[in-house]
Amino acid sequence: MKKNISLTRYLVEQQRVDGLIPGQLRLLLEVVARACKRISFAVNKGELGDVMGTAGSENVQGEVQKKLDIIANETLIEANEWGGHLAAMASEEMEGIYVVPNRYPQGEYLLMFDPLDGSSNIDINMSIGTIFSVLKKPEGHPGVHESDFFQPGTQQVAAGYCIYGPQTTLVLTVGDGVSMFTLDREQGSFVLIEENVKIPEDTKEFAINMSNMRHWDEPVKRYVDECLAGEEGPRGKNFNMRWVAAMVADVHRILCRGGVFMYPWDKREPQKAGKLRLMYEANPMSWLVEQAGGMATNGRQRIMDIQPTQLHERVSVVLGSKNEVERVTRYHLEAD
Ligand code: AHG
Ligand code: MN
Ligand code: MN
Ligand code: MN
Repeated sequence: MKKNISLTRYLVEQQRVDGLIPGQLRLLLEVVARACKRISFAVNKGELGDVMGTAGSENVQGEVQKKLDIIANETLIEANEWGGHLAAMASEEMEGIYVVPNRYPQGEYLLMFDPLDGSSNIDINMSIGTIFSVLKKPEGHPGVHESDFFQPGTQQVAAGYCIYGPQTTLVLTVGDGVSMFTLDREQGSFVLIEENVKIPEDTKEFAINMSNMRHWDEPVKRYVDECLAGEEGPRGKNFNMRWVAAMVADVHRILCRGGVFMYPWDKREPQKAGKLRLMYEANPMSWLVEQAGGMATNGRQRIMDIQPTQLHERVSVVLGSKNEVERVTRYHLEAD
């Protein structure tokens, strides 16, 4: 572990040394980290706090909202709206954008988040998390419009997640590699544990929800069948399978030890490109994976090149160890 470098000191050094992080972006990241700390404390209360179970409402995705979906969403909004660093926010749990109220100074950044990722794990005490992505508000016009958010993932200026697992760990990139910070609950601060995270280019571990096999497109079936064929099959090696049902946990595992994560298009909802959302799940995770030397496509093209047209746009996701993602993508292109 690095000598006790706090997130604050790390960001100041990145700001001072590389000029990568303007003061307002550093403030934004510190505020998001503090909000994640508060969400972590709520998550850790479990049944001892009023945070478990459903809230009895539905979100714009048609999903039943869990109490923690709403608590996390409100925590992120309350933490970020008054600081003067943001112009607007967008969230999985809100239909439209949330423009910073006039009583607060408007900043130059746009913040998107999945406030509570892996909601189906909440009531079984399994890892969950928060995912966030930061864009700059386009110049040249007053106010903020939903279309200001419709920027490809390559335009992100910061992206990260906080995983609420055995440890609460914040994982972050501002375009200069990936760093990890674990929450020291005694000090109440995030402490640097890893920087320049690298994903191995090869792996023997894939992550996909196998129960959807009959709904997959041929290239995904071909890839997974070859993994299952093991060392007697065309891959000549045995594979392991993992599926945590929380993207933050599966991506964290891949950043820590490699692997390939797939949530592909399937024919259950053929009109949708997939289950995961481009703006606040796929794009931030894709940038982290690419910054760690991995790859992220929708099966055919780089996720971060996709031009969004809707706030809650879905996308098919294949990300992780470069050589495996290349193979899955090649199988899609060969099938076209
Ligand atoms: P969310 O809880 O924010 O709606 O996201 C859940 C997503 C993602 O975290 C996970 O990889 C995937 O849903 C799991 O889907 P299945 O339950 O279909 O396996
Ligand atoms: Mn959800
Ligand atoms: Mn999610
Ligand atoms: Mn969510």
